[in-house]
Amino acid sequence: MDSESIREIERRALEAIAGAGGKEELEEVRIRFLGRKGEITAALRSIGTIPAEQRPAMGKLINSISNRVTASFDKKEAELSGASAGEEPYPGDPTLPGRRRWKGGLHILTQVTNDIAGIFKGMGYSIATGPDVELDYYNFEALNFPEDHPSRDEQDTFYINRDILLRTQTSPVQVRYMEKHDPPVRIISPGRVYRNETPDPSHSAEFFQMEGLFVDTDVSMVDLKNDVTKFIKLYFGREAEVRFRPHFFPFTEPSAEVDMSCFACQGEGCSVCQKTGWLEIMGAGMVHPNVFRYAGYEKDAYTGFAFGMGIDRIAMLKYGIHDIRQFLKNDLRFLGNFWKQKI
Ligand code: DAH
Repeated sequence: MDSESIREIERRALEAIAGAGGKEELEEVRIRFLGRKGEITAALRSIGTIPAEQRPAMGKLINSISNRVTASFDKKEAELSGASAGEEPYPGDPTLPGRRRWKGGLHILTQVTNDIAGIFKGMGYSIATGPDVELDYYNFEALNFPEDHPSRDEQDTFYINRDILLRTQTSPVQVRYMEKHDPPVRIISPGRVYRNETPDPSHSAEFFQMEGLFVDTDVSMVDLKNDVTKFIKLYFGREAEVRFRPHFFPFTEPSAEVDMSCFACQGEGCSVCQKTGWLEIMGAGMVHPNVFRYAGYEKDAYTGFAFGMGIDRIAMLKYGIHDIRQFLKNDLRFLGNFWKQKI
């Protein structure tokens, strides 16, 4: 045992440590050099065999080598554990459960709108939109509401000036769309509408509608009934019955109100349907020839149907919500009920 062969052990040990690719390999290296029967340990033990006067120097040398190899080993071990040298340990209690990250969800009216739109998209409808701030022309005149006609009073309108208003219905999108597109036209148009109403549990000055319009060369009332019934059964359940009641709208002729059998009592009569067994779902009818004329369509060339429903009302029926004002209060305790992930 001489100092040269000791240094040779150190060289090999440092090389082996540097070359270790994983913790297991490193452990093998440690055992090989620093273990009970390791080379450095054996060198220390062999000190007894050399002349007494050389022992102190040799002991010092082997100890310093042992220290350097141990330090190199520790460093490599830390590296392999992914902790870089000098990093502070996590100051908190790492065993505490994590805090869930706050996550919102879609407004219930957005969800209902998407669900309804999804059904109509599946039936070939595409989505069209129009402005909230609308011309009197599109909101009334082109929809065949004559000027000074009492039917305008039924929709208490927020006027901005004589010609401009907040739309009271999504029906103006019908004319706007037909002005730009020739038949076949098959659209739905969801959006916000405004009426000067005193808010109460069933009235709001702002609410949402979904308009529908289908125009082609041979569209009939049968097609209207077919699409509306399909929608109601897909959205509320196949057992829902649908009925059309004659009604009046200026922009459709004939016009109807559409009812579905009450899902709460299956038509028996209960508090949800005010004992009638029926729930009013939408207005509908065959597009009035005057509306086609305003839209610039060739006379008598086309027929079509239209329908319009209140999205808020549908959401209230579907989810048992009793106050329409909840929708726009932005109270997360209400809105959070409808999120996929609860808050
Ligand atoms: N716009 C009507 C309303 O707000 C609803 C409506 C009725 C729309 C009949 C239509 C329709 O397209 O054909 O009361």
